Amino acid sequence: MKSMNKLIESLNRHRKNGQALLAANFYNAETLQAILFAAKQERSEIILQTSPATLNYLGVKLATAMARAAADEYGVTAWLHLDHATDTDLIHHCIETGYDSVMIDASEFEFTENVQRAKEIVKIAHEKNIAVEAEIGYIPKLGQAGANGTGLTTPEEAQSFIERTNVDLLAIAIGTAHGFYKEKPALDFERLEAISKVVDRPLVLHGGSGLSKDEWRMAIRGGIAKINFATEIKDTFINTIKKSLNGNDEIDLRKVFLPGIRTTARLVAEKIRVCSGN
Ligand code: 13P
Ligand code: ZN
Repeated sequence: MKSMNKLIESLNRHRKNGQALLAANFYNAETLQAILFAAKQERSEIILQTSPATLNYLGVKLATAMARAAADEYGVTAWLHLDHATDTDLIHHCIETGYDSVMIDASEFEFTENVQRAKEIVKIAHEKNIAVEAEIGYIPKLGQAGANGTGLTTPEEAQSFIERTNVDLLAIAIGTAHGFYKEKPALDFERLEAISKVVDRPLVLHGGSGLSKDEWRMAIRGGIAKINFATEIKDTFINTIKKSLNGNDEIDLRKVFLPGIRTTARLVAEKIRVCSGN
């Protein structure tokens, strides 16, 4: 990369200050507004993430234009990130439309295949000064069984993966999983510290939903610079709306989503405060 990507600079700065950036997934205009409202209120930068499913729903151009215009409207410094992409065409598309960073998720493949796929993306992304995130080890996806100690990232493979791929951000498996937890997860903070010692890139914690504030704080203390947060956003937004529409025959679309936006913004603001060390 010729000059350092601004998002990576910001993540490094946050890490040095014992802070992290919240990476919040948005799904529609309303969750996007809620996230930006919270970031504005907390005077914080934010990473706006879209999964392939969201891009399938909104379209890459609409999602990009919405995120950029909304961040501008709210006066928030926001970074646009592609979350958990497996399809190279989609990654190319997002690079073309001006994402700040993209994740290539080849974590289901064995080490050398994961390295190979990450290297291909790094080659094209770095030409445009776009950062690349990859996952080493395996963080269970939505609906999969929680992490039971298998698939956790080792410091050796994390270090070797960085040397071979030159990815900018590394998602690591220390016991978190996507979605709500059926049992309290046992996070391996010693492992995080050991990885943090040998990896000089921002580390990413996936599966932020359902973890306690203390777990977030310990993760940040251990060297996590980006915390991914999605399921609680969907859950809070939709459950608030379900409740407020129960027995309510309001059809004004400018009114019915407002309670959902409000509760989601409160939730996101609380998470931003934890990331900022408050
Ligand atoms: P949660 O849905 O568990 O918050 O995980 C978010 C995530 O890791 C997005 O990549
Ligand atoms: Zn994730």
